[in-house]
Amino acid sequence: MANQILIKNIKALVGIDDGNVLKKSGKQMSELGTIENAFLLIEDGLIKDFGQQTSNFQLPTSNFKTIDAAGKHVLPSFVDSHTHLVFAATREEEFEMRIKGKSYEEIAAAGGGILNSAKKLQAMSEDELFENSLTRLNEMMHFGTGAVEIKSGYGLTVKDELKMLRVIQRLKKVSPITIKATFLGAHAIPAEYKQNRNGYIDLMITEMLPQIASEKLADYCDVFCDKGFFTVGETDIILNAAAKFGLKAKIHGNELGLTGGVQVAVKNNALSVDHLEYTGDAEIECLKNSNTMPTALPNCSFFLGIPYAPFRKMIDAGLPVCLATDYNPGSSPNPRMSFVISLACTQMKLTPEEAINATTINGAYALELSKTHGSIAKGKVANVFITKQISSLAYIPYSFGVDMVESVILGGKVLN
Ligand code: NIG
Ligand code: FE
Repeated sequence: MANQILIKNIKALVGIDDGNVLKKSGKQMSELGTIENAFLLIEDGLIKDFGQQTSNFQLPTSNFKTIDAAGKHVLPSFVDSHTHLVFAATREEEFEMRIKGKSYEEIAAAGGGILNSAKKLQAMSEDELFENSLTRLNEMMHFGTGAVEIKSGYGLTVKDELKMLRVIQRLKKVSPITIKATFLGAHAIPAEYKQNRNGYIDLMITEMLPQIASEKLADYCDVFCDKGFFTVGETDIILNAAAKFGLKAKIHGNELGLTGGVQVAVKNNALSVDHLEYTGDAEIECLKNSNTMPTALPNCSFFLGIPYAPFRKMIDAGLPVCLATDYNPGSSPNPRMSFVISLACTQMKLTPEEAINATTINGAYALELSKTHGSIAKGKVANVFITKQISSLAYIPYSFGVDMVESVILGGKVLN
């Protein structure tokens, strides 16, 4: 017997398309297919049907569970396309140093930041890392995220990068959330390679990448291409090597300056280039002629006090844009996509509709999941959330910091 869930009396079913939309660009970003007074039928983990709930509306025939969503909105689950969710410890001490005037870059250059996180992760067992990451993943699901990308990059040795990627694979096995794994060995140069950068790059290319590929531990490869981290030339070499092992690129770029991250991402046909706090006209032109999804991480701008990516200008130039949390202990210790949406609206001047497209279908594009995730469409995976009773869609960004998700369905199952 088919396993069905009927959500009825939905005040507004939001984020509908025909299932063939891969991403939305420019003006399309304000279009958010919506049906008021709607029903949604889920069968065997997939979206089976939806529509307006007219008086002659036919109930499903087999055994089904009914959810009454009167006064509530139903949305496709968020796709969080950029996180560092696997980490060993939080970094409040650096937060306090920044309050007293030190910059993120100064702390990193003095051995804090990513290297601080690496030291703690290297000392933690795989099992403990798995357990604390699972707790964070569960929290994230309850905030409405239904697909997530998780990066390595706090290991920085062969053993510890592989440990992180194995933790991500274990999370994939036990969790109903959809997960993509990204190798970010090029997150920082480890202290012992400070005088031998090429030695570390060789280690990634000759030892880490072959093992990752043979155990199928990653889907993508990322490089932190920025001032004080990896140069454009180094990024190019690493991405080229990763491509030979079948890993597509996703880049950290233009967070700390106009450093050529966008250009090297586009040159390597990266799926996305993320951060973009420093984006000029040349970067916008370059992105226009590409398949690379520009992705902003406004939590990071908020938390580090750095500029916000110029997304209003980029959408007006016809580009698609994506938003993600960047959940990590250094620059974004917060997994809520709803807060990202609030920042996008208040600080980056996106409309609520644009911000929701940027966190659903365009996030799915950045993880090659558009055919199965990121919108309400027949045949897609039934990853949706139901809000509390809210007066309008704009209430989601308006009520910043407030949790408006009431219940979550992932793969057709209601989360406890
Ligand atoms: O995306 N910028 C590089 N990496 C992370 C931060 C990592 C950390 O500080 O631990 C980011 O912001
Ligand atoms: Fe990041």
